[in-house]
Amino acid sequence: MTMRHVGLLSFFLTAAGSPVFADGWGEPHLDIVPRTQVEAERISNATASTDTFETAEKFETHPAGKATKFGIKTKDAFSFASANMTFERELDFKVGNGFFRKLWVTAPASTVSSDGLGPLFNARACQRCHIKDGRGHPPEDHSDTGVSMFLRVSIPKSFSDLDDETLKYLANAPEPTYGTQLQDKSIAGIPAEGRMEISYETVSVTMGDGSTVDLRKPTYTFTDVAYGDLHPQTQLSPRVTPQMIGLGLLEAIPEADILALADPDDADGDGISGKANRVWSGEFDQWMLGRFGLKAGAPTIKAQSAGAFSGDLGLSTSLHPAGWGECTGAQSDCRLAPDGSSPTDQLEVSDEVLDLVTFYSRNLAVPARRDLDDPQVLRGKELFYQTGCVSCHQPKFVTHRLENQPEQSFQLIWPYSDMLLHDMGEGLADNRPEWEATGREWRTAPLWGIGLTQTVSGHTNFLHDGRARSLLEAILWHGGEAEPARETVRQMSAEDRDALITYLESL
Ligand code: HEC
Ligand code: HEC
Repeated sequence: MTMRHVGLLSFFLTAAGSPVFADGWGEPHLDIVPRTQVEAERISNATASTDTFETAEKFETHPAGKATKFGIKTKDAFSFASANMTFERELDFKVGNGFFRKLWVTAPASTVSSDGLGPLFNARACQRCHIKDGRGHPPEDHSDTGVSMFLRVSIPKSFSDLDDETLKYLANAPEPTYGTQLQDKSIAGIPAEGRMEISYETVSVTMGDGSTVDLRKPTYTFTDVAYGDLHPQTQLSPRVTPQMIGLGLLEAIPEADILALADPDDADGDGISGKANRVWSGEFDQWMLGRFGLKAGAPTIKAQSAGAFSGDLGLSTSLHPAGWGECTGAQSDCRLAPDGSSPTDQLEVSDEVLDLVTFYSRNLAVPARRDLDDPQVLRGKELFYQTGCVSCHQPKFVTHRLENQPEQSFQLIWPYSDMLLHDMGEGLADNRPEWEATGREWRTAPLWGIGLTQTVSGHTNFLHDGRARSLLEAILWHGGEAEPARETVRQMSAEDRDALITYLESL
């Protein structure tokens, strides 16, 4: 992938027909101190790709720069504050953690500040899904309700009754009755929307050395529907909860540095495109680069968190002021249920609480790398670079220098994601677009901390819907733009394959 020079101002039209500022839309969420010329040169040296694999690189031990947390290899490994946080700010982090863990209750309740859950919801607390601040998983069996994943839902915009001007500012056209997310839980007296079901079929992949790996291919249905049939054109998108580490650093990567990696029309012909998602920000009333969510559908951590309060918990914030959360006009009883709004701001979750949860979500530390001088890890790293994994899993960035976010300011970080969308082929397609992302595109998953998944979460389920049961399975699902890289891995000797996996486990 080429490093397209971002300099000239230019405009182009997107598929939706709206003018787009090709060099970015701006970063109103950050209080940026502009880079000096000298800094820009230092940064370009520090982020240049390595070509030696005999030893680890300088600072490679610190994936999150000075915010990296050292010495923790327990199941709490994802739950520490940025290591460079002051004691005073850590108090806010702890209060934010309290709200992240808090179990919300139905309104009206004696604990006024904790009520307003639902009427429809997927879980009663953020951490019910973001378990140990790590990733979720699909249900293990019929007795497991699959609380840490859900289905997004919509219909194609061309089938919607909403007018074009309204649709322009929506990621998707909502399913007329069920909205944009299926909630499988509800308060007493209001039926839950239904139940997610997954069935798996086995797909065998024959490796270059003749051995086989069995993958499980999921099919999703939404059954026991309580509000009538879903629209015939319904699009479902399964989403497993992602890990929470390093998010504030991802939010602080300069937009220009992400856009410099984009190559939407594959102008350099390397088979890897990389496309920025462009999303509407209700918070700033403008288009912004999408960064969060599995299709980069949200511009900021605050927007994603407010969306979660509304869609996942049924709680209102100033960004989503409806006390009924995701109940649609077609779910009238649901809209009439009592809500937990406070008399002062008419909200269930105040701006103060939203800000504390956002601060918490921004500051979960990335653990330090382990074993990075191990010869097998170094060999695996070489393979990761040679195989082209780095075309999407971009190793390094330097974050903006920021006025009021010392933890995220000017850090050399190693997220192993370009923050762009890539076509991952038919196998991983959900066939549900989201803003500019097509039904085959996903945001490159950041790989930092991935080697601690077993330790933190007690499983190794990967990809957007947790279908992969190991790192190797996750790689073997890569298709589309990543097919050549996947084929290289499939043809690798067992020894090289093991080295590549051992390297991923050291991240
Ligand atoms: C029902 C499960 C569930 C609950 C409850 C939940 N989340 Fe999430 N969270 C998810 C899923 C799934 C995603 C990915 C969403 C997507 O792709 O759009 C996500 C994504 C995120 C992200 C973006 C992560 C990234 O890598 O881009 C943040 C931040 C976040 N959630 C914060 C919160 C906060 C704060 C709360 C509580 C107010 C919360 N979540 C509650 C399931 C949940
Ligand atoms: C064309 C871009 C691209 C290339 C090349 C690529 N990946 Fe990925 N990778 C992605 C995207 C996008 C996802 C998320 C897919 C999903 O969730 O369905 C992903 C997900 C992953 C995951 C799972 C992460 C998680 O959190 O669940 C692993 C592991 C991974 N890639 C490793 C690799 C390795 C190793 C290589 C090289 C052999 C590679 N990738 C090459 C784009 C790419």
